[in-house]
Amino acid sequence: MIIDFATAKKNLQHNGFLDIPVDPSLDLFAAIEDLKKRKNAIILAHYYQEPDIQDIADYIGDSLGLAQAAAKTDADIIVFAGVHFMAETAKILSPQKKVLLPDLKAGCSLADSAPPELFKKFRDKYPDHIVISYVNCSAGMKALSDIICTSSNAEKIIESVPKDQPIIFAPDRNLGAYLVKKTGRDMVLWNGACMVHEIFSLEKIMKLKVRHPKAKIVAHPECEPAVLEVADYIGSTTGILKFTQKDDAQEYIVVTETGILHQMQKDNPNKTFIPAPPNNACACNDCPHMKLNTLEKLYLCMEYEEPEITMDENLRKAALKPIERMLEISAAAGL
Ligand code: 13P
Ligand code: SF4
Repeated sequence: MIIDFATAKKNLQHNGFLDIPVDPSLDLFAAIEDLKKRKNAIILAHYYQEPDIQDIADYIGDSLGLAQAAAKTDADIIVFAGVHFMAETAKILSPQKKVLLPDLKAGCSLADSAPPELFKKFRDKYPDHIVISYVNCSAGMKALSDIICTSSNAEKIIESVPKDQPIIFAPDRNLGAYLVKKTGRDMVLWNGACMVHEIFSLEKIMKLKVRHPKAKIVAHPECEPAVLEVADYIGSTTGILKFTQKDDAQEYIVVTETGILHQMQKDNPNKTFIPAPPNNACACNDCPHMKLNTLEKLYLCMEYEEPEITMDENLRKAALKPIERMLEISAAAGL
């Protein structure tokens, strides 16, 4: 078994994290709280993280909220409990801070579906188009984009672009198709998708609806058009949470990653939340990337300050411009 830091560090790229055993009798919650104070570190967590990680986080949010929190924190260390593109966005916005990710292999199938070299060739075919990219993409893709958006500000971002300006939207074809319908803008779409959201079964959702006729269907816009067609509410993770807080239904069929159910249940203890089933033998729909992060890995990365997100400065500057544009438009729109 690997026990020393030097060996664990040597194997970091291969393993994605420091594979150092953690004493099972250690109170990880207390140890992480202590590390936060000692190192002036802040933990930012996405709603798809496991419940323990959400409970120890200083801020939990959707991609927009997390990027805004990363941009304004005065902590010395940002511990990003999410996936790689989210931690990378934090580093792009706060280059002077140390940004840690509990497991470097926590990627994103949607981000992987748009390799920058291929996208550049695609973009070059449409020289008069501007590129709006969903934040779920690599820094290389961001550097090829004019404006970044998230699922909570995408409509406002598109509306901010003059009507006669043609647009390429990348990488998510489902979010893109949803936005074409919502905004009436005929955008050119890159053919990417999220492995978690495209696997929901419309048939199983409709069977659930028969058994729970009063349940409202709430869905993330990364889902396929046929699923979005039957949804009562479509929005980002924060949007879905806010909707279920304010809405007066008692039951919801939740068509997004199951991690979000933790906050839903905490915020609405008397309501029932039913995770929508995917089109396979599993009963739930976890994002395998998000769920690579564990409390142990979170503790290890804070203790040893590895793995750290690093980036070429020219790439960072190029990727920063479209993110800043997004933050400006969002602020002007009151988001
Ligand atoms: P949100 O920005 O809605 O939290 O979505 C992030 C994500 O990865 C959805 O799959
Ligand atoms: Fe990426 Fe989908 Fe996982 Fe979100 S749920 S991080 S889009 S793979």
